[in-house]
Amino acid sequence: MQVTDWIDLSGKTAHVTGAGQGIGAAIARALAAAGAEVAVSDIDATAAAEVAKGLGGVGMALDVSDREAVDAALAATVRQLGGLDILVNNAGVYQNLGGPVRDITDAMWRKLWSVNVDGVFYCCRAAARFMIEAGRGGRIINIGSTQAVTPGVGVTYDGSKAAVAQITKALALELAPHRINVNTLAPGPTWVNDGEPPLIDGHPPPPTGDPLADSVANRIARLPAGHWGDPMEQGKAAVFLASAMSDFVTGAYLPVDGGWLTL
Ligand SMILES: NC(=O)c1ccc[n+]([C@@H]2O[C@H](COP(=O)([O-])OP(=O)(O)OC[C@H]3O[C@@H](n4cnc5c(N)ncnc54)[C@H](O)[C@@H]3O)[C@@H](O)[C@H]2O)c1
Repeated sequence: MQVTDWIDLSGKTAHVTGAGQGIGAAIARALAAAGAEVAVSDIDATAAAEVAKGLGGVGMALDVSDREAVDAALAATVRQLGGLDILVNNAGVYQNLGGPVRDITDAMWRKLWSVNVDGVFYCCRAAARFMIEAGRGGRIINIGSTQAVTPGVGVTYDGSKAAVAQITKALALELAPHRINVNTLAPGPTWVNDGEPPLIDGHPPPPTGDPLADSVANRIARLPAGHWGDPMEQGKAAVFLASAMSDFVTGAYLPVDGGWLTL
């Protein structure tokens, strides 16, 4: 037995949502590099197809907030890959949906929670049905955020990620008898935009009077790791949570954050 045997995902099948770019694309590539057959889904079908092509997997369109589409996409994964051993609930939104509570409309709240919370629930439920029926255990990895612990994006997003962490723990308890491990992977600041990430100089900027923006800016400026995270850092942690390396890990909240939560 060698350590590499424990991270080998050969013979395993995986589905990663929101994997057309950013952290989800890196996780899909990491799982494929560990040997898994991977289905890549995204609301952007072209992006999903592109990523799937690059890793020799299957690409599909999926809006995780659409319950029927979720059931159909996971059924298609089982049909096309021969099973579903690993689900990564990565799809999540935050752009233009946070900010001060007085400015948040009902539509913004519903939009964000329909993806970040309803979507996670729909995918977990569909995956649990397949995994329990197949009887060969499984792994569900829910992508949370350090913002579940240290607020900063706003009540919509921060609240949604706290919900994901508790949904994860409840499912870990319920699904343990079926040998289905359910964990939260919580990224810290991860650069998914074009170009180089801004330098981190250790000096918090002067307060702006906006507590949300200041919370994030202070922590990023003082991030112990001294640099932004690369999406593949989340990919590596996902391989750990998907593999035999973490057989006895369930219900955990794993920050992969360059030390953000030490601040
Ligand atoms: N980047 C960070 O610093 C960071 C930090 C903490 C947590 N996260 C979390 O990591 C996850 C990925 O974030 P990212 O930074 O890579 O984001 P991103 O915006 O780069 O990528 C998100 C992907 O999800 C897709 N998507 C959006 N709505 C969708 C829907 N309804 N159904 C399916 N796919 C949808 C988008 O098309 C996109 O490809 C999210 O859950 C996010 O909250 C990111």
